Amino acid sequence: MTGNNGPFVEVISAEALASRARELGKQLTEEYRDREPVFVGVLHGSLPFLSDLIRQVETPLDVDFLALSRFGEGGKVRIAMDTEISLEGRHVVIVEDIVDTGLTLSYLRRLLETRDVASLATVTLLDKAPRRIVEVPLEYRGFEVGDEFLLGYGLDWEGQYRNLRSIWVVLDLASLQSDSASLGEKVFRAHGDNLTT
Ligand code: IMP
Repeated sequence: MTGNNGPFVEVISAEALASRARELGKQLTEEYRDREPVFVGVLHGSLPFLSDLIRQVETPLDVDFLALSRFGEGGKVRIAMDTEISLEGRHVVIVEDIVDTGLTLSYLRRLLETRDVASLATVTLLDKAPRRIVEVPLEYRGFEVGDEFLLGYGLDWEGQYRNLRSIWVVLDLASLQSDSASLGEKVFRAHGDNLTT
């Protein structure tokens, strides 16, 4: 842990995120050199990670996005916005913010496998491994995390806090739910106190 600010604790600093993106970028450069991959960011949570990651990959690539929505019971998922580029015959790299139960990624991989892609791999910033319900291949991951609710660097609570520069654990989720406005102020104050750059 890199900082303690009441109900919010910074668990992955901006520096650690940047350094891991550099390492993953290096690995992906080696793996995808001369293959012109398509990096597909899963909206909205992957946005900061995708943005940092692709700038560490030193070989030509395309970037596209898709969005998923959940419906019904049992976490069913469907495509809310599809990629613009055709994925047929392409080397596809799915970019995720976090894999939790694995249900979302497992649905997405099954769907993309029907599109005659040349290859399919996933890079996730965070792997919440203890919560996994379905086994799903994860070729690249940034950090393994525990069963705690995280915010920042793309991860949201009700659509907010994606713009924090580092990743924070919420120690008291009940307070966030009952008093989101004042806790919102606290997390940005804590975030500001922790910034070194
Ligand atoms: P899965 O289908 O359970 O693997 O869910 C993955 C999705 O759950 C992610 O893309 C996030 O939107 C969300 N999620 C899981 N854990 C967290 C968290 O700690 N903070 C914010 N969102 C989370």
